[in-house]
Amino acid sequence: MPHPRELLEQLHHRQTLAEQGGGAARIAQQHKKGKLTARERLDLLLDEGSFVELDRFVTHRATDFGLDQQVYPGDGVVTGYGRIDGRLVYAFSQDFTVFGGSLSEAHAEKICKVMDHAVRNGAPVIGLNDSGGARIQEGVVSLGGYADIFLRNTLASGVVPQISAILGPCAGGAVYSPAITDFIFMVRGVSYMFVTGPNVVKTVTHEEVSFDELGGADVHGGTSGVAHFVHDSEPECLLAIRELLGFLPLNNLDDPPERLSEDPADRRDEALLDLIPDSANKPYDMHGVIGRVVDDGGFLEVQRGYADNIITGFARLGGRPVGIVANQPAILAGVLDIAASLKAARFIRFCDCFNLPVVTFVDVPGFLPGLAQEHGGIIKHGAKLLFAYCEATVPKLTVITRKAYGGAYDVMSSKHIRGDLNLAWPSAEIAVMGPKGAVEILFKDDIASAGDAGEATAGLIEEYTRKFAHPYAAAARGYIDDVIDPRDTRPRLIDALRTLRSKRDRNPAKKHGNLPL
Ligand code: HXC
Repeated sequence: MPHPRELLEQLHHRQTLAEQGGGAARIAQQHKKGKLTARERLDLLLDEGSFVELDRFVTHRATDFGLDQQVYPGDGVVTGYGRIDGRLVYAFSQDFTVFGGSLSEAHAEKICKVMDHAVRNGAPVIGLNDSGGARIQEGVVSLGGYADIFLRNTLASGVVPQISAILGPCAGGAVYSPAITDFIFMVRGVSYMFVTGPNVVKTVTHEEVSFDELGGADVHGGTSGVAHFVHDSEPECLLAIRELLGFLPLNNLDDPPERLSEDPADRRDEALLDLIPDSANKPYDMHGVIGRVVDDGGFLEVQRGYADNIITGFARLGGRPVGIVANQPAILAGVLDIAASLKAARFIRFCDCFNLPVVTFVDVPGFLPGLAQEHGGIIKHGAKLLFAYCEATVPKLTVITRKAYGGAYDVMSSKHIRGDLNLAWPSAEIAVMGPKGAVEILFKDDIASAGDAGEATAGLIEEYTRKFAHPYAAAARGYIDDVIDPRDTRPRLIDALRTLRSKRDRNPAKKHGNLPL
C-alpha cells in the first residue's frame, strides 16, 4: 500500500489533469477566439471560491473511431454547485477544448446528475453551453443523452429556474435544451445557435449564410426571439445572469428575494403628471413611467430588441421583486401583434411559475389588423397572451395610463380575468375602439349622405369622446377599482402588494391546461 502522501500526489496529478480539459494548446485556441474557458466562466459566474465540482474524473466509455486513445477526465463538461450572492445554484459549463464540447453519454450523465440535485434541493440550474451537439462518434448513445436532458429540462420547468448562456457555436441538441429553459443569454461575436450549421444549410436549401446571419446573438435577440438577453462580452453576460438571479426565488415554493432600498414606498412622482402627451395619437416612452414608479428606477428588461411594442422585465416595488409587462406607445403605437403576444405570454407564465407578482401598464390600441398577422395566426398567438393572464394566480396589478381599446382591454390583465387591483389614470380611455374609428362605423351612412362630411364627423367624434373616451364608464361598473392621480402610482402599487402578500387563489385541479399553441 503506497504512503498516503503518495496517494495524495496521485490525486493532485489527476485533479490537475482534469482541470486542463483538452490541454494547453486547445485552451490557447479558445482564448485566441476571444472565448473564456469553461472554468474561467464558472469563476466569473459564481461567488468567489464557492464552486464545488462533481464528477471531475468521469470519462467516456466509447472505443470507436480511436476514441479509446482520447480520454479526457471530466469528458468535456465541468459540473457542480456554488453560490450567487450567497444563494445555492447548480451549474454545468461545457468545455469546447474537449471534442468541441460535444455531448457524449458520460457528459450527459454528468449534466443530468446536477439537474437531479437541483430539482431535489430546490435550486436553479445554470447551463453554460459551448457545444457542437451530439458527439458524432458515439452515435445513438449521445442522442439518448440529449433526450435524457430534454426530459429533465421539461420536468424541472416551473419547479426551479433554468438559465442558459450560449457561449460558443451551439448546434443540434445543444440548442434544444436551452430552448426549453426559462432564459437564454447570448454574446455578440461569440454565441451562435442553429439546428444545423451553414454548411448543412447550403447543401439542403442552397442558401449561403454566415454563422452570424444564421444564428448570431442579434438574430436571436432581434429577429427570432429565441434569446432573452444579448451582451457584448462574456464577463458582462455572466454578471447579468447574477443580476437576473437576484430577482428570482430558488424554486417554485420559495418567495423571490426582497431587497430593501432607500427609495421611499410613499414617494409621489411629479413628472408622471406630464408624461402623457396632449393628443391621444402622440407616442411617449413607457420606460419613463416604469422608471419613475419602481424602486430606484431599476429595471432589468427581458427581450429588449424583440417585439419592442411590448416591454417585459423585472423590477422591485417596496423591495419586492415583480414582473412588469407594459405596452409601448412609442413603438407601433403599442399594438399587440404576434411577436408581442408571444413575448409577453411567456414572460407572464414564468412570473406565475415563480411567485412574481405581475404589474401591467396599459396603453394599447388593440390587436394589429392585416393579412400578415391573420395568416400568421394572430388569433392563436394572441390567445396565448389571454390564456397566460387568465391562468396566472400571482398578484396582478394593472394601471391603464391611456388607451385600453377592444379585446386588448380584456387581455391586458383586466378585472374580468382576475386582476387584483385595476387602476386608471384620468387620461385613460377605455372603450371598444378609438372615437374616430367608432364614429366611422356607427355613422357610416350618415357621414356618406351628409354633404359636409368633415364637420359632421367632427361633431360625432366629439360626442363619442365625451361619452366613452375616459375611465369613468368602466369605473362606474367596478371594472376599474379606482381612478388615481398619476403621481400616486408608486404608493398605490406598493400598498396593494402588501395587501396581496397573503393572496390565495388557485385554478381547478387538472393535469395541465391546453395552451393554444
Ligand atoms: C464530435 C466534434 C463535434 C461533434 C465539433 N467537434 N463538433 N466532435 N462531435 N458534434 C470537434 C471537431 O471535430 C474538432 O476536433 C473540435 O471539436 C473543434 O471543432 P471545429 O469544427 O474545429 O470548431 P469550429 O470551427 O469552431 O466549429 C464548431 C462547430 C463545428 C460549428 C460546432 O464543429 C460543427 O459544425 N460541428 C458539428 C455540429 C453538428 O452537426 N453536431 C451534431 C448535431 S446533431 P479537432 O480534434 O479536429 O480539433 C445533434 C443531435 C441532437 O446534436 C438532436 C436533438 C434534437
